[in-house]
Amino acid sequence: MSRLSQTVLVLTVCLFWSGPNLSAAARSQQLNERPIIGVLAQEKLPGDQFARGFSYIAASYVKFLESGGARVVPIRINRTEEEYTKLFYKINGLLLPGGDVDIKTSQFSRAARIFYNLALRANNAGDYFPVWGTCQGFQQLSVLTARKNLLTQTRTKAVALPLTLTPAAQSSRLFRSFPKDLLRSLAEENITSNFHRWSLSVQNYSRNAKLKRFYKVLSTNSDGEKEFISTMEAFRYPFYAVQWHPEKGPFEWIDKPGMVHSVSAVRTSFYTASFFVSEAMKSQHRFSSPAEEEEALIYNHQPVYRGTTAVFVQNYYFD
Ligand SMILES: *[C@@H]1O[C@H](CO)[C@@H](O)[C@H](O)[C@H]1NC(C)=O
Ligand SMILES: *[C@@H]1O[C@H](CO)[C@@H](O)[C@H](O)[C@H]1NC(C)=O
Ligand SMILES: *[C@@H]1O[C@H](CO)[C@@H](O)[C@H](O)[C@H]1NC(C)=O
Repeated sequence: MSRLSQTVLVLTVCLFWSGPNLSAAARSQQLNERPIIGVLAQEKLPGDQFARGFSYIAASYVKFLESGGARVVPIRINRTEEEYTKLFYKINGLLLPGGDVDIKTSQFSRAARIFYNLALRANNAGDYFPVWGTCQGFQQLSVLTARKNLLTQTRTKAVALPLTLTPAAQSSRLFRSFPKDLLRSLAEENITSNFHRWSLSVQNYSRNAKLKRFYKVLSTNSDGEKEFISTMEAFRYPFYAVQWHPEKGPFEWIDKPGMVHSVSAVRTSFYTASFFVSEAMKSQHRFSSPAEEEEALIYNHQPVYRGTTAVFVQNYYFD
Protein backbone atom coordinates (compact mmCIF):
# COMPACT_ATOMS: atom_id res chain seq x y z
CA MET A 1 0.00 0.00 0.00
CA SER A 2 1.46 3.39 -0.98
CA ARG A 3 1.86 6.08 1.61
CA LEU A 4 -0.78 8.14 -0.20
CA SER A 5 -3.38 5.39 -0.15
CA GLN A 6 -2.54 4.67 3.50
CA THR A 7 -3.19 8.33 4.26
CA VAL A 8 -6.44 8.20 2.31
CA LEU A 9 -7.46 5.09 4.22
CA VAL A 10 -6.67 6.68 7.59
CA LEU A 11 -8.51 9.84 6.60
CA THR A 12 -11.48 7.85 5.36
CA VAL A 13 -11.61 5.84 8.58
CA CYS A 14 -11.36 9.04 10.64
CA LEU A 15 -14.12 10.69 8.65
CA PHE A 16 -16.21 7.57 8.83
CA TRP A 17 -15.86 7.26 12.58
CA SER A 18 -16.29 10.92 13.33
CA GLY A 19 -19.45 10.97 11.19
CA PRO A 20 -22.07 9.61 13.60
CA ASN A 21 -20.74 11.67 16.52
CA LEU A 22 -20.74 14.87 14.54
CA SER A 23 -24.23 14.36 13.25
CA ALA A 24 -25.45 13.43 16.74
CA ALA A 25 -23.99 16.68 18.04
CA ALA A 26 -25.50 18.62 15.14
CA ARG A 27 -28.87 16.90 15.60
CA SER A 28 -29.13 17.97 19.21
CA GLN A 29 -28.88 21.61 18.11
CA GLN A 30 -30.87 21.30 14.94
CA LEU A 31 -34.36 22.70 14.82
CA ASN A 32 -37.21 20.26 14.45
CA GLU A 33 -38.94 21.62 11.37
CA ARG A 34 -41.89 19.25 11.69
CA PRO A 35 -43.19 20.33 15.10
CA ILE A 36 -46.45 18.92 16.44
CA ILE A 37 -48.31 20.86 19.11
CA GLY A 38 -50.95 19.48 21.44
CA VAL A 39 -54.09 21.58 21.90
CA LEU A 40 -56.11 20.74 24.99
CA ALA A 41 -59.84 20.10 24.54
CA GLN A 42 -62.36 21.22 27.15
CA GLU A 43 -65.89 20.44 28.33
CA LYS A 44 -68.44 21.54 25.73
CA LEU A 45 -70.40 24.71 26.36
CA PRO A 46 -73.86 24.11 27.84
CA GLY A 47 -76.51 24.32 25.13
CA ASP A 48 -74.09 23.94 22.21
CA GLN A 49 -76.54 22.70 19.58
CA PHE A 50 -73.70 21.59 17.28
CA ALA A 51 -71.90 19.48 19.88
CA ARG A 52 -71.11 15.84 19.25
CA GLY A 53 -69.46 14.20 22.23
CA PHE A 54 -68.59 15.94 25.48
CA SER A 55 -65.59 18.11 24.59
CA TYR A 56 -64.39 20.52 21.90
CA ILE A 57 -61.51 22.50 20.47
CA ALA A 58 -62.24 25.75 18.61
CA ALA A 59 -60.72 25.36 15.14
CA SER A 60 -59.24 28.89 15.26
CA TYR A 61 -56.52 27.67 17.66
CA VAL A 62 -55.63 24.89 15.26
CA LYS A 63 -55.46 27.28 12.28
CA PHE A 64 -53.40 29.71 14.37
CA LEU A 65 -50.73 27.07 15.01
CA GLU A 66 -50.89 25.82 11.43
CA SER A 67 -50.28 29.39 10.19
CA GLY A 68 -46.97 29.32 12.10
CA GLY A 69 -45.86 26.03 10.55
CA ALA A 70 -46.98 23.41 13.08
CA ARG A 71 -49.32 20.46 12.96
CA VAL A 72 -51.79 19.79 15.75
CA VAL A 73 -52.71 16.82 17.88
CA PRO A 74 -55.88 17.12 19.96
CA ILE A 75 -55.48 16.29 23.65
CA ARG A 76 -58.76 14.83 24.90
CA ILE A 77 -60.06 15.35 28.40
CA ASN A 78 -61.02 12.50 30.76
CA ARG A 79 -57.93 10.44 29.92
CA THR A 80 -55.57 8.71 32.35
CA GLU A 81 -52.40 10.36 33.62
CA GLU A 82 -50.47 7.52 32.05
CA GLU A 83 -51.95 8.30 28.64
CA TYR A 84 -51.12 12.02 29.01
CA THR A 85 -47.55 11.21 30.05
CA LYS A 86 -47.01 9.03 26.98
CA LEU A 87 -48.39 11.75 24.71
CA PHE A 88 -46.25 14.43 26.36
CA TYR A 89 -43.04 12.74 25.15
CA LYS A 90 -44.35 12.66 21.56
CA ILE A 91 -45.42 16.31 21.12
CA ASN A 92 -43.29 19.46 20.89
CA GLY A 93 -45.44 21.98 22.75
CA LEU A 94 -48.79 22.58 24.41
CA LEU A 95 -51.46 25.21 23.79
CA LEU A 96 -54.12 25.87 26.42
CA PRO A 97 -56.97 27.68 24.62
CA GLY A 98 -59.61 30.10 25.72
CA GLY A 99 -63.07 28.94 26.73
CA ASP A 100 -65.35 28.80 29.69
CA VAL A 101 -64.69 26.00 32.15
CA ASP A 102 -63.82 25.89 35.83
CA ILE A 103 -60.05 26.31 36.09
CA LYS A 104 -59.86 24.43 39.38
CA THR A 105 -62.29 21.53 39.02
CA SER A 106 -62.80 20.82 35.29
CA GLN A 107 -61.24 17.95 33.38
CA PHE A 108 -59.55 20.68 31.31
CA SER A 109 -57.82 21.98 34.44
CA ARG A 110 -56.86 18.44 35.49
CA ALA A 111 -55.18 17.69 32.16
CA ALA A 112 -53.56 21.16 32.13
CA ARG A 113 -52.04 20.47 35.56
CA ILE A 114 -50.64 17.10 34.48
CA PHE A 115 -49.02 18.60 31.36
CA TYR A 116 -47.79 21.68 33.24
CA ASN A 117 -45.98 19.49 35.78
CA LEU A 118 -44.51 17.32 33.03
CA ALA A 119 -43.33 20.47 31.22
CA LEU A 120 -41.68 21.84 34.37
CA ARG A 121 -39.88 18.56 34.93
CA ALA A 122 -38.78 18.21 31.29
CA ASN A 123 -37.42 21.75 31.09
CA ASN A 124 -35.61 21.29 34.40
CA ALA A 125 -33.89 18.30 32.84
CA GLY A 126 -32.84 20.25 29.73
CA ASP A 127 -35.66 18.85 27.59
CA TYR A 128 -37.05 22.03 25.98
CA PHE A 129 -40.88 22.03 25.98
CA PRO A 130 -42.86 25.24 25.39
CA VAL A 131 -46.33 25.98 26.80
CA TRP A 132 -48.73 28.65 25.54
CA GLY A 133 -51.88 29.90 27.31
CA THR A 134 -54.50 32.12 25.67
CA CYS A 135 -57.26 33.83 27.72
CA GLN A 136 -58.59 30.96 29.87
CA GLY A 137 -55.21 29.31 29.18
CA PHE A 138 -53.50 32.39 30.67
CA GLN A 139 -55.76 32.18 33.71
CA GLN A 140 -55.16 28.44 34.04
CA LEU A 141 -51.37 28.96 33.99
CA SER A 142 -51.66 31.64 36.68
CA VAL A 143 -53.59 29.22 38.90
CA LEU A 144 -51.10 26.41 38.27
CA THR A 145 -48.13 28.60 39.14
CA ALA A 146 -49.67 30.39 42.14
CA ARG A 147 -51.46 27.19 43.26
CA LYS A 148 -54.51 29.31 43.87
CA ASN A 149 -57.03 31.41 42.01
CA LEU A 150 -56.05 35.07 42.27
CA LEU A 151 -58.32 36.33 39.49
CA THR A 152 -60.64 39.27 39.83
CA GLN A 153 -63.62 40.43 37.75
CA THR A 154 -63.04 43.11 35.11
CA ARG A 155 -65.20 44.81 32.50
CA THR A 156 -63.41 43.29 29.51
CA LYS A 157 -66.08 41.09 27.93
CA ALA A 158 -65.84 42.42 24.37
CA VAL A 159 -63.24 45.11 23.81
CA ALA A 160 -60.16 45.63 21.64
CA LEU A 161 -57.29 47.31 23.48
CA PRO A 162 -53.80 48.59 22.69
CA LEU A 163 -51.14 46.87 24.84
CA THR A 164 -49.38 48.93 27.47
CA LEU A 165 -45.95 47.40 26.92
CA THR A 166 -43.61 47.27 29.92
CA PRO A 167 -39.89 48.12 29.66
CA ALA A 168 -39.26 44.35 29.79
CA ALA A 169 -41.22 43.82 26.55
CA GLN A 170 -38.46 45.11 24.26
CA SER A 171 -35.99 42.46 25.37
CA SER A 172 -38.54 39.67 25.92
CA ARG A 173 -38.21 36.48 23.90
CA LEU A 174 -41.76 36.91 22.57
CA PHE A 175 -41.80 40.56 21.47
CA ARG A 176 -38.13 40.74 20.44
CA SER A 177 -39.13 38.60 17.45
CA PHE A 178 -41.79 41.13 16.30
CA PRO A 179 -41.10 43.81 13.67
CA LYS A 180 -40.72 47.26 15.22
CA ASP A 181 -43.65 48.77 13.31
CA LEU A 182 -45.90 45.98 14.55
CA LEU A 183 -44.88 46.62 18.17
CA ARG A 184 -45.78 50.26 17.59
CA SER A 185 -49.21 49.21 16.24
CA LEU A 186 -49.72 46.95 19.26
CA ALA A 187 -48.95 49.85 21.58
CA GLU A 188 -51.02 52.46 19.72
CA GLU A 189 -53.95 50.75 18.01
CA ASN A 190 -56.89 48.91 19.56
CA ILE A 191 -56.02 45.55 18.04
CA THR A 192 -55.88 42.97 20.85
CA SER A 193 -59.24 41.25 21.35
CA ASN A 194 -60.35 40.85 24.96
CA PHE A 195 -63.22 38.50 25.79
CA HIS A 196 -62.89 37.74 29.47
CA ARG A 197 -64.69 38.40 32.73
CA TRP A 198 -61.71 37.48 34.90
CA SER A 199 -58.24 38.97 34.98
CA LEU A 200 -55.00 38.74 36.93
CA SER A 201 -54.62 42.20 38.43
CA VAL A 202 -51.19 43.79 38.62
CA GLN A 203 -51.90 44.15 42.34
CA ASN A 204 -52.47 40.43 42.99
CA TYR A 205 -49.54 39.45 40.76
CA SER A 206 -47.23 41.82 42.65
CA ARG A 207 -48.33 40.47 46.02
CA ASN A 208 -47.81 36.83 45.07
CA ALA A 209 -44.19 35.70 45.37
CA LYS A 210 -44.74 32.53 43.29
CA LEU A 211 -46.11 34.46 40.32
CA LYS A 212 -43.60 37.27 40.59
CA ARG A 213 -40.66 34.89 40.67
CA PHE A 214 -41.99 32.86 37.76
CA TYR A 215 -43.38 35.35 35.22
CA LYS A 216 -42.08 38.55 33.71
CA VAL A 217 -44.87 40.99 32.81
CA LEU A 218 -44.65 42.14 29.18
CA SER A 219 -47.87 44.16 28.94
CA THR A 220 -50.75 45.38 31.05
CA ASN A 221 -54.20 46.80 30.35
CA SER A 222 -56.98 48.40 32.31
CA ASP A 223 -60.77 48.21 32.26
CA GLY A 224 -60.83 51.80 33.53
CA GLU A 225 -60.58 50.70 37.15
CA LYS A 226 -58.34 47.69 37.55
CA GLU A 227 -54.98 47.25 35.91
CA PHE A 228 -54.46 43.66 34.78
CA ILE A 229 -51.70 41.66 33.12
CA SER A 230 -52.29 41.06 29.42
CA THR A 231 -49.03 39.37 28.35
CA MET A 232 -46.38 37.52 30.33
CA GLU A 233 -43.55 35.05 29.79
CA ALA A 234 -41.76 32.91 32.33
CA PHE A 235 -38.23 33.93 33.30
CA ARG A 236 -36.72 30.45 33.22
CA TYR A 237 -39.18 28.36 31.22
CA PRO A 238 -40.48 28.66 27.64
CA PHE A 239 -43.97 29.39 29.00
CA TYR A 240 -46.07 32.23 27.55
CA ALA A 241 -49.49 33.61 28.39
CA VAL A 242 -51.74 36.19 26.73
CA GLN A 243 -55.06 37.35 28.13
CA TRP A 244 -56.00 38.57 24.63
CA HIS A 245 -56.79 36.48 21.54
CA PRO A 246 -54.16 36.43 18.77
CA GLU A 247 -56.13 33.72 16.89
CA LYS A 248 -59.39 35.65 16.47
CA GLY A 249 -58.29 38.34 13.98
CA PRO A 250 -57.73 36.02 11.04
CA PHE A 251 -59.87 33.05 12.07
CA GLU A 252 -63.10 34.08 13.87
CA TRP A 253 -65.91 36.06 12.26
CA ILE A 254 -68.62 36.82 14.82
CA ASP A 255 -69.54 40.48 14.29
CA LYS A 256 -69.28 42.13 17.69
CA PRO A 257 -67.24 44.76 19.53
CA GLY A 258 -63.71 43.64 20.27
CA MET A 259 -63.26 41.72 17.02
CA VAL A 260 -60.55 43.22 14.78
CA HIS A 261 -59.55 42.03 11.31
CA SER A 262 -57.18 44.85 10.38
CA VAL A 263 -53.82 44.19 8.72
CA SER A 264 -52.05 44.87 12.04
CA ALA A 265 -54.32 42.48 13.94
CA VAL A 266 -53.74 39.71 11.39
CA ARG A 267 -49.97 40.35 11.34
CA THR A 268 -49.95 40.20 15.15
CA SER A 269 -51.62 36.80 14.96
CA PHE A 270 -49.05 35.52 12.50
CA TYR A 271 -45.99 36.76 14.40
CA THR A 272 -47.36 35.35 17.64
CA ALA A 273 -47.98 31.93 16.06
CA SER A 274 -44.62 31.96 14.29
CA PHE A 275 -42.85 32.76 17.56
CA PHE A 276 -44.50 29.93 19.50
CA VAL A 277 -43.97 27.42 16.70
CA SER A 278 -40.28 28.43 16.55
CA GLU A 279 -40.12 27.53 20.25
CA ALA A 280 -41.72 24.14 19.53
CA MET A 281 -39.05 23.54 16.88
CA LYS A 282 -36.52 23.34 19.74
CA SER A 283 -38.24 20.22 21.06
CA GLN A 284 -37.05 16.86 19.81
CA HIS A 285 -39.97 14.78 21.15
CA ARG A 286 -41.50 12.52 18.55
CA PHE A 287 -43.95 9.76 17.88
CA SER A 288 -42.51 6.27 17.72
CA SER A 289 -43.62 5.73 14.12
CA PRO A 290 -45.14 7.66 11.20
CA ALA A 291 -48.29 5.54 11.58
CA GLU A 292 -48.67 6.43 15.26
CA GLU A 293 -48.12 10.11 14.42
CA GLU A 294 -50.67 10.06 11.62
CA GLU A 295 -53.27 8.44 13.84
CA ALA A 296 -52.89 11.19 16.46
CA LEU A 297 -53.11 14.22 14.14
CA ILE A 298 -56.21 16.39 14.09
CA TYR A 299 -56.64 15.68 10.35
CA ASN A 300 -58.51 12.55 11.46
CA HIS A 301 -61.35 14.81 12.68
CA GLN A 302 -63.66 17.16 10.80
CA PRO A 303 -64.45 20.59 12.22
CA VAL A 304 -68.15 21.47 12.39
CA TYR A 305 -69.28 24.76 10.84
CA ARG A 306 -71.37 26.66 13.41
CA GLY A 307 -72.32 29.77 11.45
CA THR A 308 -70.78 33.23 11.22
CA THR A 309 -72.75 34.49 14.23
CA ALA A 310 -71.27 31.81 16.53
CA VAL A 311 -68.47 32.77 18.89
CA PHE A 312 -66.41 29.96 17.32
CA VAL A 313 -67.06 29.63 13.60
CA GLN A 314 -65.84 26.00 13.55
CA ASN A 315 -65.28 23.52 16.37
CA TYR A 316 -63.80 20.06 16.59
CA TYR A 317 -65.79 17.77 18.87
CA PHE A 318 -64.54 14.75 20.77
CA ASP A 319 -65.75 12.00 23.07
C1 LIG B 1 -65.27 12.96 32.79
O1 LIG B 1 -64.76 13.07 34.11
C2 LIG B 1 -65.64 13.68 35.02
C3 LIG B 1 -64.94 13.89 36.33
O2 LIG B 1 -64.10 12.85 36.64
C4 LIG B 1 -66.90 12.85 35.16
O3 LIG B 1 -67.79 13.49 36.03
C5 LIG B 1 -67.53 12.69 33.81
O4 LIG B 1 -68.64 11.82 33.90
C6 LIG B 1 -66.55 12.14 32.79
N1 LIG B 1 -67.21 12.18 31.51
C7 LIG B 1 -67.15 11.20 30.66
C8 LIG B 1 -67.96 11.36 29.42
O5 LIG B 1 -66.48 10.22 30.84
C1 LIG C 1 -56.96 39.17 44.58
O1 LIG C 1 -57.25 37.78 44.69
C2 LIG C 1 -58.39 37.47 45.49
C3 LIG C 1 -58.53 35.96 45.53
O2 LIG C 1 -57.47 35.40 46.26
C4 LIG C 1 -59.60 38.10 44.89
O3 LIG C 1 -60.73 37.83 45.70
C5 LIG C 1 -59.41 39.59 44.77
O4 LIG C 1 -60.52 40.16 44.12
C6 LIG C 1 -58.15 39.91 44.01
N1 LIG C 1 -57.94 41.33 44.07
C7 LIG C 1 -57.48 42.02 43.05
C8 LIG C 1 -57.38 43.50 43.21
O5 LIG C 1 -57.15 41.49 42.00
C1 LIG D 1 -59.46 51.60 22.75
O1 LIG D 1 -58.62 51.42 23.88
C2 LIG D 1 -58.89 52.32 24.94
C3 LIG D 1 -57.85 52.05 26.02
O2 LIG D 1 -56.59 52.51 25.60
C4 LIG D 1 -60.28 52.07 25.48
O3 LIG D 1 -60.56 53.01 26.50
C5 LIG D 1 -61.29 52.22 24.36
O4 LIG D 1 -62.55 51.83 24.84
C6 LIG D 1 -60.92 51.38 23.17
N1 LIG D 1 -61.79 51.66 22.07
C7 LIG D 1 -62.50 50.73 21.43
C8 LIG D 1 -63.31 51.23 20.29
O5 LIG D 1 -62.47 49.55 21.71
